Amino acid sequence: MTMKVLVVGGGGREHAIARALSLSEGVILLSVMAKRNPGIASLSSEVLIERETNIPSVLKFALSREADYAVIGPEAPLEAGIVDHLQEKGIPCIGPTLSAALLETDKAFCREMMQRHGISGCPHYRTFYSASDAIGFIRDYEGDLAIKPIGLTGGKGVRIMGEHLDREGAVAYVRSLGGNVVLEERLIGEEFTLQAFVDGKHIVPMPLVQDHKRAFEGDQGPNTGGMGAYSMANHSLPFVTEADRRNAFGIMRDVVKVMEDAGTPYRGILYGQFMNTAKGPMVIEFNARFGDPEAMNVLSLLESDLGSIVTNIVSGSLSEHDIRFARKATVCKYLVPEGYPDAPLTGEPLTFSNDSGAFLYYANVEERDGIFYTQTSRTLAFVGVGDTLGEAEESAEKAARSVKGRIRHRSDIGTRALLEKRIAHMKEIR
Ligand code: AMP
Ligand code: GLY
Repeated sequence: MTMKVLVVGGGGREHAIARALSLSEGVILLSVMAKRNPGIASLSSEVLIERETNIPSVLKFALSREADYAVIGPEAPLEAGIVDHLQEKGIPCIGPTLSAALLETDKAFCREMMQRHGISGCPHYRTFYSASDAIGFIRDYEGDLAIKPIGLTGGKGVRIMGEHLDREGAVAYVRSLGGNVVLEERLIGEEFTLQAFVDGKHIVPMPLVQDHKRAFEGDQGPNTGGMGAYSMANHSLPFVTEADRRNAFGIMRDVVKVMEDAGTPYRGILYGQFMNTAKGPMVIEFNARFGDPEAMNVLSLLESDLGSIVTNIVSGSLSEHDIRFARKATVCKYLVPEGYPDAPLTGEPLTFSNDSGAFLYYANVEERDGIFYTQTSRTLAFVGVGDTLGEAEESAEKAARSVKGRIRHRSDIGTRALLEKRIAHMKEIR
């Protein structure tokens, strides 16, 4: 039996999805992306170059090529309602409908849902739709605040008063957002990501991952889409106890239950971003899709057939017994253009020879006549896999260093020194 699966999106995350699907029994890949990703294209039987949010065009392609399923990588097409449209035409999707994707696309919805249903891990927050009200609140607030635009921002919209901004900076930022913000207590701790497969009712967790949002070594500089991430062979993290992991997973299970009871069942990948605090895991946000880079870590470990997981999600028969990840560590390092994220150097040629055994995932890179050029966003990523974090890091770092050109990466991701810092931080706050 063959099945045609359409992968929507053209980044490193989607390359990892496409690779895992391409290893699956009987899967024929179709893909749609705004710019040709050479990795995904080489795995696809056919590629449509189109904005992923151009629903009519994606729909036409999917129908004319008789796609059996679609896997939605990024959040923008989810917010544009791609799943509702594809499913209406009989193409089931791995990705939530508009009403279920609100978990990610509307930060106010997410917090209100958690509070209304008494789901644990919700920080103190207030929602505002007026600049003067939000500014009044900021002026009177004692302590640090996270300022979140209500809608999607590509992971770059949150500012922390007390870290990135002083009080006047916070006021100016809220004004620039027209006052449509969630303001919430600043959580202190260590962040981790828990992703899960969800079929509307059943939820199966993946290994924990820690992402690195800041552009530079030592978590300095501006926030980015994510510079790289690591995971450990035991599928947990050394600053997360078994109770923490269970609590985080319990929160996600509660969310899935609430969505089901509300008549808007959640189907797809649920991504929980947690802050492990002195009191245990608190929810920073949910995403309605795999993380990028986190997808590359976990999918490089997936031993089960992603094609079968897709069909099980659609039929509502997802079971943890069918999903296995290798008990190995991973380190993912993104190469980004010099100047990224504020002023990326684009059109710069790259050369590399990947002989370290790391997985190579292409992202925002252009291939012309066999030469690769940087674009505005993250260029390509290497994922090292090893029995220990050290081995995985060495493999990813060696591969990243082999790339010549005006690009850079964070050499500290997955290193012992950084891990020790995280562990010490957690000890200090607990
Ligand atoms: P987000 O766009 O929601 O992923 O947020 C980006 C980053 O902002 C997160 O990875 C956190 O580092 C930080 N952040 C968001 N909310 C909070 C919060 N309530 N307290 C502290 N940091 C936060
Ligand atoms: N790595 C964070 C995200 O995908 O939103």
